[in-house]
Amino acid sequence: MSKPIILQVGPYPEWDQTPLDSAFDVKRYFEAPDQPGFLAEHGPNIRAIATRGELGAGHAMIEACPALELISVYGVGFDAVDLDACRERGIRVTNTPDVLTQDVADLGVAMMLCQSRGMVGAERWVRDGSWASKGLYPLKRRVFGRKAGILGLGRIGFEVGKRLAGFGMDIAYTDITAKDYAPDWTFMSDPLELARHADFLFVTLAASAETRHVVNGDLIACVGPEGMIINISRASNIDEEALITALQNGTLGAAALDVFEGEPALDPRFLDLDNVLLQPHHASGTIETRKAMGQLVRDNLTAHFAGQDLLTPVL
Ligand code: 8YV
Repeated sequence: MSKPIILQVGPYPEWDQTPLDSAFDVKRYFEAPDQPGFLAEHGPNIRAIATRGELGAGHAMIEACPALELISVYGVGFDAVDLDACRERGIRVTNTPDVLTQDVADLGVAMMLCQSRGMVGAERWVRDGSWASKGLYPLKRRVFGRKAGILGLGRIGFEVGKRLAGFGMDIAYTDITAKDYAPDWTFMSDPLELARHADFLFVTLAASAETRHVVNGDLIACVGPEGMIINISRASNIDEEALITALQNGTLGAAALDVFEGEPALDPRFLDLDNVLLQPHHASGTIETRKAMGQLVRDNLTAHFAGQDLLTPVL
């Protein structure tokens, strides 16, 4: 029997590529020098798309694949997939929740610690000889016992909160409703109130058109000159223009960011700021988690073509 033909939107590690290639007839979109021509040639035969969270599958790609049945996303976020186009055409969509939750939470908390204690600058202080020539490294702000705000108490936000509890932090959160699984933390329905509360504001919202720029200039101002924003969700959740302005003029103290508009070509103004910690969208980037994500991408594809229930359906 011939293998189902699938479109691969971005590269995967070798340990995923090899089994993917053996189970499916994989058309590598990302390697095509002429991507529209590649889609025109292979689109009509494509039955599934294997993509990554930040790459998704847009309207034009979906339209070019009239026989498309499934989009399997390597990532929990599916905001880059045109869900309306999928709904109209009865295309199923899967993602990789749960398997990445712990690592994403770990990195978010690590970013807070790293930025608050000035660890990047401290490392430079040692390496460039400043420790010996100038003496003690400038004092930084503590994390222990301070106030944290979590914007979006889903799976990742909840795991962030559990870690912050270990630092004796005063934890508050915003979500659509109060969560009974977080009885010890304060629910604040108003994101502005949360921002005023927080020394450290974690953005852990699943991104969608509705959450676009939910962290706007007003909210950033409420976090304030002593506060920090940590984003491990999607860049679209924050008004990046307002964020850069606030970091430049000091109306926001600091930021720690794993995601950027137009990444990896981030706004160059970020590079001139020393109150921002920049990370290359790698919150889920451990060998263990990425292996589990790749397996889940394949398991969803395999289940679909075997006529079985999808493991982690979005649509
Ligand atoms: C990426 C992510 O998928 O889970 C998500 O939504 O954005 C990430 O895990 C990862 O960078 C692989 O492309």
